[in-house]
Amino acid sequence: MQLNHPDIQEVLVTADQIQERVAELATEISEFYKDKEVLLLGILKGAVPFMADISRALSIPVLQDWMAVSSYGSGTVSSGVVRILKDLDADIKDRHVLIVEDIIDSGLTLSWLTSNLKARGAASVEIVTLLRKPEAAKVRIAVRWVGFDIPNAFVVGYGLDYNEHYRSLDGVGILSPSVYE
Ligand code: IMP
Repeated sequence: MQLNHPDIQEVLVTADQIQERVAELATEISEFYKDKEVLLLGILKGAVPFMADISRALSIPVLQDWMAVSSYGSGTVSSGVVRILKDLDADIKDRHVLIVEDIIDSGLTLSWLTSNLKARGAASVEIVTLLRKPEAAKVRIAVRWVGFDIPNAFVVGYGLDYNEHYRSLDGVGILSPSVYE
């Protein structure tokens, strides 16, 4: 569905801009892992569109797995409490893992997840995120690839939701606060 939706206050990234950036990131990632076998680890549910697009844009063969973690509940403020709702299907010992994430807000979720994956014996753990809110960072995490830095506002679209709505919008926009206030 197109982003020109009445609940969207401001368009931040259009569908075309996402596809252009995905292609650039895919070139860098393919080069980085050219001699290695990489496992793309998508974080459900928000990273589904990004995983679908970036995995197909890569020029190297990859494996894919998924985790579902929760740090938010139904609100719009990060809690820092992470729960695994769905774990990986396979062992990642000695594997090169690339976490594919939709957005980094406080960074708490990925900070926790990165340590968790390293503790399982992954050979390497890197992160690619489509979006990052630099002003919201509560912890420092090493993110190798970022699609777009965005302002510290609650955004939806391209996988990102508010109470499960708006995931199918084709770009990313700021949700009008009147929707949740
Ligand atoms: P963090 O732990 O604060 O970095 O939060 C990461 C998770 O919070 C993301 O994977 C999203 O699921 C969710 N999240 C953070 N900011 C937004 C937003 O602006 N819109 C929708 N979901 C968000």
